Amino acid sequence: MDTPVDLRSDTVTRPTDAMREAIAKAEVGDDVFGEDPTVNELQRRVAQMVNKEAALFVPSGTMANLLAIKAQAQPADTVILHVDSHPFNYESGGMAMIAGVMTKTLGGDYGILSPESVQSALCLNPDHHYSPTSLITIENTTNRGGGAIYPIETITEIGRIARENGLKLHCDGARIFNAVVESGVPVDGYASHCDTISFCFSKGLGTPVGSILAGPLETIDLAHRYRKMFGGGMRQAGILAAAALYALDNHVGRLKDDHRRAREFRTTLEGVDGIEFPLPSPTNIVYLKVRDAMEFIGHLAERGVLALPLSRSRVRFVFNLNVDDNGLERAIEAVRRAAHAVARKDSQRAQLS
Ligand SMILES: Cc1ncc(COP(=O)(O)O)c(C=O)c1O
Repeated sequence: MDTPVDLRSDTVTRPTDAMREAIAKAEVGDDVFGEDPTVNELQRRVAQMVNKEAALFVPSGTMANLLAIKAQAQPADTVILHVDSHPFNYESGGMAMIAGVMTKTLGGDYGILSPESVQSALCLNPDHHYSPTSLITIENTTNRGGGAIYPIETITEIGRIARENGLKLHCDGARIFNAVVESGVPVDGYASHCDTISFCFSKGLGTPVGSILAGPLETIDLAHRYRKMFGGGMRQAGILAAAALYALDNHVGRLKDDHRRAREFRTTLEGVDGIEFPLPSPTNIVYLKVRDAMEFIGHLAERGVLALPLSRSRVRFVFNLNVDDNGLERAIEAVRRAAHAVARKDSQRAQLS
């Protein structure tokens, strides 16, 4: 049987031979002593790319978000974020347990906050009955929102609201380069409106491990202390940083291929009975709405295609480095056949009842 076409996430990618070569050649040292030259080079390079004073390499996007929150909000402060955001849904409640913050969650199409809703959710009242807002976090692109890209005007406006009210703005840019290649807005363009920005190397960029948080020196210094406290200090992490540097040089432009495949997947399958596309798919993530997500992914798996059930009726497909045009064809065919298999079963059931 062929290797499965794995579309559950863009985190499932395995490093390419060339990336493994870069890893093998990495110069390393003890990064807890600040002596890993490859980590230092990565941090310098990213800080420069996003036009911030400093950057900190961390094991995961979850830790990057947690450090950004912990370093920019006091316990019992309120953090404003989208109800579909990653820290609120998928980070094990870390910001409650470790940063001790209150959350004010807001809605908004496709995981995107509107400046108006942010403005009206701010708590600026100095009365001690209240928990003051100190941080807003946004996600670009949005995961649960179908890979939606924040319009730069929206970020500009939210940044203005944050600045005018003495608040911080963090961007969870786990997939920021998907936004960059699709919108044409440079990464420092997005970052310029935010105090801190994080992104992941281990998603579309295809490295085995690692994310990064960038921002003002003082904030990153505090994040460095918390990284140590949370057990995230890594020693010869240059082998991971080398993969990240390789990815920045070689895997950013190709994200467009993932977007093209996601688009082709969608346009080819639109109109097939029994499936719907509940959200737009501007980047590499496609959601399908089906009657029974578990049944549907079972049919797909029988045909060598893996997708992720995210609710009773929603299945997620994420195009990634390990899925080529042949994988795309196999995925299209598997979805078609799965939809037919479900329809056949339904009509058999109807005849029996
Ligand atoms: C938008 C977003 N933020 C943060 C993360 C967390 O990244 P990690 O899995 O590296 O902790 C993810 C992971 O999927 C994500 O999609």
